[in-house]
Amino acid sequence: MSPYDSSPAPQSRRAPALIDGLGRSVSYLRVSVTDRCDLRCVYCMAEHMTFLPKAQVLTLEELDRIATVFVGLGVRKIRLTGGEPLVRKGVMTLIERLSRHLASGALDELTLTTNGTQLAAFAPELARLGIRRVNVSMDTLDPDLFKRLTRGGDLAKVQAGIEAAREAGLAVKINAVALARDNAAEIPTLIQWAHDRGHGITLIETMPMGEIDEDRTDQFLSLADVRQELESYWTLSDLPLSTGGPARYVEVAETGGRLGFITPMTHNFCEGCNRVRLTCTGTLHTCLGQEDATDLRAVLRAGGDDAALVAAIDGGVRTKPKGHDFRIGRGAAPSVSRHMSTTGG
Ligand code: 5AD
Ligand code: SF4
Repeated sequence: MSPYDSSPAPQSRRAPALIDGLGRSVSYLRVSVTDRCDLRCVYCMAEHMTFLPKAQVLTLEELDRIATVFVGLGVRKIRLTGGEPLVRKGVMTLIERLSRHLASGALDELTLTTNGTQLAAFAPELARLGIRRVNVSMDTLDPDLFKRLTRGGDLAKVQAGIEAAREAGLAVKINAVALARDNAAEIPTLIQWAHDRGHGITLIETMPMGEIDEDRTDQFLSLADVRQELESYWTLSDLPLSTGGPARYVEVAETGGRLGFITPMTHNFCEGCNRVRLTCTGTLHTCLGQEDATDLRAVLRAGGDDAALVAAIDGGVRTKPKGHDFRIGRGAAPSVSRHMSTTGG
């Protein structure tokens, strides 16, 4: 059997098997398809990053195989991330393969978190393959600041990508990392910009993941404070909507748009967590903020069959930690040593 066979996800007669040791059901898989990126955001990467050698990175076939086993175990939603997923060679082949699970009804949703630089070229094809939504990272509307924050990125390209996605019928959500020094004053304008175009927007607190060139303490901005400021001139009403993730959503009455807050540092969301992450090297992390890891690549490359993968996944999920333990302290080492670009955001 070719590892790249077109088999459907093995259907289980049981209820979804992925239940962790605390009774949380895991239905959402995030897959980092590459650690590489065409940008170098200051809060994410060091200026000179060493990327993984190709042999360590899962092939497209291996990514498909592991993702498919997860679907067989009851995962209903997959998000592809990176690094930047659209810089991975052949990523559209992978998306096309995974889209068979959308067609079969085994998967509810296949989505993407992207920096948007390549989106203008890929949006129509993504829509054709059944992708309905994309998250696009954009922290500022100022081209010079964008260039500095991303160490060289072109904001116009990203905005063209967002527009192309909209034209292709994809729902776009903007992700913006809240940075005390750089975009704090601009946040209301960013929100207004997104809502004017019919896009939701989610603000993210910086998380201490991986060594970067600056001290994150200087840039940390509490979203509790941001929310308080926004509420001095806007009416925010809580939406019940929960994605089982760290985001809390409100509707802004004045703009009619949706606003999310991802507050890993000030809000504990772990009790409802439904997700696990697969790195591009085939490591399963069941918590973004802990070092726990299961090596699925080793199982795969030792010739393990689906049953062996299921056993390894099940073992990893069972020990999913109760919660994360992020701390940002001056001079403190990152809480987790791996970068967001390896694990996937
Ligand atoms: N803290 C918070 N957000 C981060 N991102 C990347 N690194 C970090 C970090 N250390 C963001 C990206 C993107 C999302 C996937 O995660 O900007 O919007
Ligand atoms: Fe690339 Fe996203 Fe990291 Fe920026 S945050 S360097 S776009 S992976």
